Amino acid sequence: MLEDIAFHDETTARNYRFRPPYHPNFFNLLASELKLGNSQVALDLCAGTGEVAVGLAPYLSSISALDFSPPMLSRAKNHPKVRYAKVDVNEIAALQRVAPKGNALCTVGMGIHYLELQTLKFVNANLLNPSGYFVTLQSGFASENPWFSKYRTLRASLRKDLKGQQIDWVSREKVEGAGFTLLYPVVLEYHVQIKFEYLLRETLSMSGLRELNEDMFSEYKHALSVELAPYIKEGRLATKIRNSAFVYRQVSR
Ligand SMILES: C[S@@+](CC[C@H](N)C(=O)[O-])C[C@H]1O[C@@H](n2cnc3c(N)ncnc32)[C@H](O)[C@@H]1O
Repeated sequence: MLEDIAFHDETTARNYRFRPPYHPNFFNLLASELKLGNSQVALDLCAGTGEVAVGLAPYLSSISALDFSPPMLSRAKNHPKVRYAKVDVNEIAALQRVAPKGNALCTVGMGIHYLELQTLKFVNANLLNPSGYFVTLQSGFASENPWFSKYRTLRASLRKDLKGQQIDWVSREKVEGAGFTLLYPVVLEYHVQIKFEYLLRETLSMSGLRELNEDMFSEYKHALSVELAPYIKEGRLATKIRNSAFVYRQVSR
């Protein structure tokens, strides 16, 4: 099963830093909404290279960041309060061995669609404090960017994991099915100018790319430069990035 996951691919991991980033103010906002404090410990599932764990670490005592991809973990950002571990979080026995209990917070950034219901139920029953928060996070180009739909269509044509369907990034039904209830969303938007090259690298950071060959990618690059030409000024695109989080707590047991 592991072999099927593109996050084990070097290209995806190498280009992951070209994903639209979470803004530091987003973590500040989330930390104040959740009233995080320096005595609390947290768990970050599907941690990747530590985007969420490192962003929230300053507001916590420590955070355990779990991921199963060696190429992602090998690029993880160091932080004195973040402890990384390699584990398939859908393997409950392994998760139980690695994850500390008593967490005030469990986060999943851009990975909730990978988690099985039984994993979420296990987190709820065994790893999270009764008053703890479960939070899913996402960062991406806002769909209102005038160039976005063209970009999305072209990029999707390179992906084999979509099978004509959209990924359920939010997966609210699944999270609620595991005994959580949605409290509120937290959203932060910001504007940046990005280079056209950035979009190409962001595409390469996507899991589920077909066996990319040079011809396929240069065809994509050409089509993208034609479609986006009206929006590119001096090699750059005006871009809105949206960071969002969904904050849940346990349904009382
Ligand atoms: C899109 S990245 C998210 C990285 C980071 N959390 C963020 O918000 O940018 C998804 C990560 O989930 C990890 N992942 C997917 N399924 C997993 C599983 N069953 N166990 C552990 N990690 C998993 C992948 O290796 C990848 O690093």
